[in-house]
Parts: sequence; C-alpha cells; structure tokens
Amino acid sequence: MTEMTEQDKRRAIIDACLSMNRTGLNSGTSGNISIRHGDGLLLTPTAIPYERLTPEDIVFLGMDGRVEGRHNPSSEWRFHRDILAARPEAGAVVHAHAPFCTVLAIMNRPIPPIHYMVAVAGGSDIRVAPYALYGTEELSRNALAALEGRTACLLEHHGLIAIGTTLDKAMWLAHEVEALARQYHGCLALGTPRELSPAQMDEVMAKISGYGHQG
Ligand code: 13P
Repeated sequence: MTEMTEQDKRRAIIDACLSMNRTGLNSGTSGNISIRHGDGLLLTPTAIPYERLTPEDIVFLGMDGRVEGRHNPSSEWRFHRDILAARPEAGAVVHAHAPFCTVLAIMNRPIPPIHYMVAVAGGSDIRVAPYALYGTEELSRNALAALEGRTACLLEHHGLIAIGTTLDKAMWLAHEVEALARQYHGCLALGTPRELSPAQMDEVMAKISGYGHQG
C-alpha cells in the first residue's frame, strides 16, 4: 500500500468526521480524530462543524506540543498526542460521543465478555477510564491506563476512544465497540447476560488476532 501524503491524511480525517456523524457514531463537533504524521500528528481543530472543514483547517501538532495551523487543535489534543506517543503501533485515534458507548460510560459499566467480538479491542473487556475534566492531563493519563493492552476504551461520563494502525481500522473498531455497547445495553434491559469464560475468551483471542478491517 502506498504511503498517504499529508493532503491524503487531511482529507481522510475530514471524510471520517463526516462519516461518523452521518452514521450516528457521533453528533455535532463532539468527536475528534488524529493521524500520526512525521514527528507529530494531524488533528481536527476545535469546535468547527465538520461540513465546513477544508484540508487546510486540520492542525499539525508536534509531539513536543508545538501547533502549526490556522486554528486551535481539538481540546482533546493531549490524549491524541499522548496515545500516539505511548503506542508506537497506533497510526490513528478516533474519539466520539457514540450514543450507546456514552450510556455505558455514564453508568461506569465496562463492557464484559458478553460477545466474542469484545476481543477485537484486544482483551476480554472494554474498560472505562475514570472521569476527569475534558482536555486535561488527568483525562489523558486515565485514558492511557484504560487502553493498556487494548485498542479501545470508554471515558466515564464522556464517550469512546478507539485506536488503530490506520484511520480505517480505528473507525472500524469504533463502530464495532458502539455495536457491542448497543448489544450490552439491550441485554441489561432483559436481565444479566451470561459472560464468556476466560477459557472461551482465550480461545477467541488466539483465533481473532489479525482479524479486522482490511482497509
Ligand atoms: P473539540 O471540538 O475541541 O474537539 O472537543 C470536542 C469534545 O467533545 C471534547 O471531548
């Protein structure tokens, strides 16, 4: 696969933003998306409606915190930068206030192994990072801890983070986690779902590594 140019990345971020709102994964400007680029990342600007974004509106943020662009970066620039710095395998970060993920996040309910697809986020559960004020270092720390050994987590009273080697994969995962959250929410309405056992999840983990969006 050929390397994406900077312009490709800027356009891909905008396309993904438009798609996450069109598909109901997010609404308004409450999400933000980044792609690794050089010694930093390309990131959505703060609070600009996605339909108005042009490639030049996407902000470059160096790992050292320097900003290049005509707008301020997303208020969540810290966790985008810190995740990409701490997880060298990650190429993109998607944050959305996905409705069912947010319901579970408000109720501080991690997603247990109620479905084998929980394993696509890297383990036998999807954790909730403890609440911290949006945009803070504390939120970034909490998110990184909840992402340990995982590629997705919920943020208490807030939403969802999904990461991937590529933006396509991060978006794919964000949709999968939202589907799991919807399924879990439905199960909770009926009672207490049985969970897959650790042995059953180990078996899934062994089989599923490498499964995922093919780009
Ligand atoms: P931005 O518009 O600054 O990206 O903020 C949206 C948000 O929801 C922060 O969590």
